[in-house]
Order: sequence, then structure tokens, then C-alpha cells
Amino acid sequence: MLELRAEQPEDRWEVEALYDLCFAPGREALSSYRLRDDVPPVTGLSQVARDPDGILGGAIRFWPVHINGVQARWDALLLGPVAVHPTRQGEGLGGSLIRDSLAQAQDSGWARVMLVGDAPYYQRFGFERLNGVEMPPPTNPDRVLGLDLRPDGWKGVSGQVIRWGS
Ligand SMILES: CC(C)(COP(=O)(O)OP(=O)(O)OC[C@H]1O[C@@H](n2cnc3c(N)ncnc32)[C@H](O)[C@@H]1OP(=O)(O)O)[C@@H](O)C(=O)NCCC(=O)NCCS
Repeated sequence: MLELRAEQPEDRWEVEALYDLCFAPGREALSSYRLRDDVPPVTGLSQVARDPDGILGGAIRFWPVHINGVQARWDALLLGPVAVHPTRQGEGLGGSLIRDSLAQAQDSGWARVMLVGDAPYYQRFGFERLNGVEMPPPTNPDRVLGLDLRPDGWKGVSGQVIRWGS
């Protein structure tokens, strides 16, 4: 049984090592990382899963972003990275991390969440392709997915995704 807890500052480098293990080299060159530069992850929602011996099994992080429309600007959560150690994959841990943190995001009042990822995996949580929401290039628009955390959370939202505070 793994326990989910909010990520603490002392977890940071272990989580980075897990992401390095689970993703292709150069992950930080991806355009989505430019939205995270110099912006701290959302505390409380970013979580680690550890076994009773304290071994890290998985982690999920969230960043805040803005969607910059022509006449309006919206706040959204950017989910990711999420990763589960290869020895723990396929046991439901990724699903638990995602569902648990999304429930907390909803309770915290966030209206919408987005990510860049594989639709065949994320559609089980209700994510659908977001039309008119543009990630920094190069990003395949088919991989830009969103989920309402509030009824109609994404309705009428369109524009470029920009870094929080810019
Ligand atoms: C994606 C990841 C977080 C899922 O975690 P997990 O604990 O293995 O996932 P779960 O046990 O909750 O779910 C497993 C199911 O997801 C499916 N799945 C995993 N990755 C998938 C993908 N990229 N596309 C489609 N299905 C996927 C598995 O085939 C399995 O399907 P089943 O339920 O029909 O057997 C994990 O595989 C991982 O860390 N992968 C490497 C990093 C990564 O790709 N992160 C996501 C970035 S988009």
C-alpha cells in the first residue's frame, strides 16, 4: 500500500530523479517546461506516493497557467509531469495520483485543468481534446487535453497558454 502525500521541498530532487528515469532524456527542453520556468508548482496538489519503507513509487505535479484570450484571461491548472516507477506501473498508482489530486483541485476551487499527453490514457479520467487552446509551439494540438473541474469550466475558453504571472 502506498501513501499519497503533498510534495515537500525535501522531496524535490528525488522526484526529479524519478522523472528523469521515466521520461526520455531532454524532457526539460519540451515547450511545456517554458510555462514552468521560475514558477513554483502548486503546493498541496503536487503529490508523492511512498511505500511503507519510504521508497518513492510515483509523483504528480501541477503548475498554474493563464489562458490569454482576445478579451479575457482565465486561470487553469497544468497537470504534469506524472510518473510511476517502472516497477510499480500498471497497479493503479498513476490513476490514484491523478484522481486524488484532481478531487483536491476541485475542492480548492480550480475551474479547469489541462495537460499535454496521450489521449488514450487520460480519457479514462474525462479529459478531452481542447480546441482553441494553444500551447507554446511545437506542441501537437491532438495532445492538448482538458477537463472541467466545475460545470462548463472550459466553455468559451480559448487563447494562448502563457506563464503564470506574465
Ligand atoms: C503513464 C503512467 C503515469 C501511468 O501510471 P500507472 O500507475 O502505470 O497507471 P495505472 O496503473 O493507473 O493505469 C494503467 C493503465 O494505463 C495504461 N497506460 C499507461 N500509459 C499509457 C499511455 N501512454 N497510453 C495509453 N494507455 C496507457 C496501461 O496500459 C494500463 O491499461 P489497463 O488499465 O487497460 O491495463 C506511467 O505508466 C508512467 O509513469 N509512464 C512513464 C511516464 C509518462 O509517460 N507519463 C505520462 C506523460 S503523458
